[in-house]
Amino acid sequence: MEILQQRSTVAQVWAAAEEFIRLHHRENPEAGSPFKRLAQVRDEIETTGSYRHTPLELVHGARVAWRNSNRCIGRLYWNSLRVRDHRELTGADEIAAQCVEHLREATNAGRVRPTITVFAPDTPERPGPVIWSEQLIRYAGYACADGTTLGDPRNAGFTAGVRRLGWPGGPGTPFDVLPMVVQGCDDKPRWFELPPDAVLEVPIEHPEGDRWRDWGLRWHAVPAISNMRLEIGGVSYPAAPFNGWYMGTEIGARNLADTDRYDLLPAVARRLGLDTSSDRSLWKDRALVELNRAVLDSFDRAGVTITDHHTEAQRFMTHMERERRKGREVGADWSWIVPPMSGSTTPVFHRTYEDTESSPAYVHDAGAQARAQGHDLV
Ligand code: ARG
Repeated sequence: MEILQQRSTVAQVWAAAEEFIRLHHRENPEAGSPFKRLAQVRDEIETTGSYRHTPLELVHGARVAWRNSNRCIGRLYWNSLRVRDHRELTGADEIAAQCVEHLREATNAGRVRPTITVFAPDTPERPGPVIWSEQLIRYAGYACADGTTLGDPRNAGFTAGVRRLGWPGGPGTPFDVLPMVVQGCDDKPRWFELPPDAVLEVPIEHPEGDRWRDWGLRWHAVPAISNMRLEIGGVSYPAAPFNGWYMGTEIGARNLADTDRYDLLPAVARRLGLDTSSDRSLWKDRALVELNRAVLDSFDRAGVTITDHHTEAQRFMTHMERERRKGREVGADWSWIVPPMSGSTTPVFHRTYEDTESSPAYVHDAGAQARAQGHDLV
């Protein structure tokens, strides 16, 4: 079981609130002088133990949390994040319905829009709702009798967990979309099937490869992280799913290629007719490039937004320059920022970064990993 989150003291909430309100007013001069708002927030914290963000504070807080995400290479557009304010929702049914609506709006028929939906925060009286799923859209991983996994091995634990909750399982393809698991306030985790029209998928085929046809590879258009907590100025939103668009390598160099994921490089090499008898033929490297070409080309042909690692690395350099001119330090984690293939061909490789963490932030709390692996789903 998860260790209970330690309750923040009034002094801690106030300290975090003050810092955030000052930041909000500093970066948004149109919000006026911070002093009146600081006094209000202070009163509210003293009487209730917490406070309610204004809609503008919520929007800016969610955007700055993206700006502060040291692992994300795609932060150039942080200030255009669309924020859906559903702080009134605490129940699993309504939250699941709004997650579906989020996917529809974010997918936007392929022109993917970075979007977050914010549900009820933790309060001094009760913890807020929680989404157990790691992302709103994930593919099932079914453990087979011979020890292999059908589908995405990353989600094998979660898949077993939802089945224990009563999910009958999907059609049994390598790409069965899992239900979401949502836990409302004062409730147990419950599963919700995603309607097919909320899940845009792209068939993956190679631009030149006849032998790729009818392979049945696919991936979903929208990566929507749903198990990170949004923390803004002493208020904590445990359910706040957000999405950007994909960078090709996430799919082609990790999800479909990692040996503990779909592990497709040997099959790709076979389709390309490569000699796989020795690592030194660099068949893995060649297969990796072709798989990544296939991902980018397939998304392009389907009219679905995707970026490539060269473009995105360049944008990240622009982002850092822009932030520097604003007098802000960009924290970054080299091992996450450098793309998982051809790293040294991108400018982000050839430098170091400060990994300082700032608030507002998206954070993984102690229980998130266990929940995404389906532990305690019974
Ligand atoms: N790497 C994760 C995946 O492949 C998604 C992480 C967020 N990615 C993004 N482009 N916003 O599903």
